Amino acid sequence: MLSTEHAKIRDVLRTAVEKARRNHEGAAADYIPELGRVDLEATSAAVTCLDGATLSAGDADQHRFTFQSAAKLLLLAGLLEERGPVEVFRLVGAEPSGQDFASVARLETHGPLPANPLVNAGAIALAGQLKGNVEQRVAWVRSWAEKLYGTPIHIDDAVRRSESASANRNRAIAYMLRHNGILDSSVEDTLEAYFALCSLVGGVKDAAHFTAVLASGGKDPLSGKRVLSHATVAIVVSLMATCGMYNESGNYLVATGMPAKSGVSGVIVATVPGVAGIAVCSPRLNDKGGSVRGHIILRHLSRHLGWHFALASAELGAELGAETERTPAHPALEADT
Ligand code: DON
Repeated sequence: MLSTEHAKIRDVLRTAVEKARRNHEGAAADYIPELGRVDLEATSAAVTCLDGATLSAGDADQHRFTFQSAAKLLLLAGLLEERGPVEVFRLVGAEPSGQDFASVARLETHGPLPANPLVNAGAIALAGQLKGNVEQRVAWVRSWAEKLYGTPIHIDDAVRRSESASANRNRAIAYMLRHNGILDSSVEDTLEAYFALCSLVGGVKDAAHFTAVLASGGKDPLSGKRVLSHATVAIVVSLMATCGMYNESGNYLVATGMPAKSGVSGVIVATVPGVAGIAVCSPRLNDKGGSVRGHIILRHLSRHLGWHFALASAELGAELGAETERTPAHPALEADT
């Protein structure tokens, strides 16, 4: 039997997914051939509350996808826990780049450090810190995945191979990082670990577990066990807010007020500190690599559940929706269609 609050979240989720399904804009990523071979209509969403309850909608039970850049959060969180922030931020900055997620040029013009750990350059620099051969690095990824997603997470081998076979840009980034003295281990071993990270595969319920850990300040929502320190959570969530959606981070945050991270499979994970973790996925992307339907769902949840971080209550969130339907104050706050 669902509590009134859980039933409300489930109803708002269902309406959000129905609304998103009416949109057919965007296209699936195809620069990695395997990512182009997906059901374009698949649309799923889940919310995990801090009491461990998970509400879901759309194709949540059958839709599986690779976590792609959403898994960069795992690499950052795991290394922050094991090495601490001083070590991590010796190799990457903590500023939004304002550039495409796979920018090579930024390393040349603003290097030697990548802008932040959530762009490709930053995640590749951090993957270079994993110890051992490829197998040991991948084992590290799997072990943190189990801890943060709350269940063993497989690696999709077809996607991993497809990433590796089409990674000209990521190879260019890795060689630039080596040239800049940021990457001191093997380019290929580092990239293989990075591709495995991007190829972790699961559903929205798995992905929402991790963002619920972040929402709870680092505790597993089911066991209550602490899996991340407060310091790690503060860094990861702040970087999601400022850098998680690449060069649409500002517009996205204005519109939803929920720190998030996108991935080119069409997943967007988001966290509402003190309240819930969210994951949505649908493969058609906008030109910044964010899921078009995912944005619609997240905006709807924020407005109708009052989850914008700047607005304390659902009433205020609803007022914001009504207000902006009359006068959009910012393109990101355009009328809720
Ligand atoms: O590095 C890549 O190309 C991908 N495997 C991950 C990129 C990604 O998900 C960007 N996010 N929107």
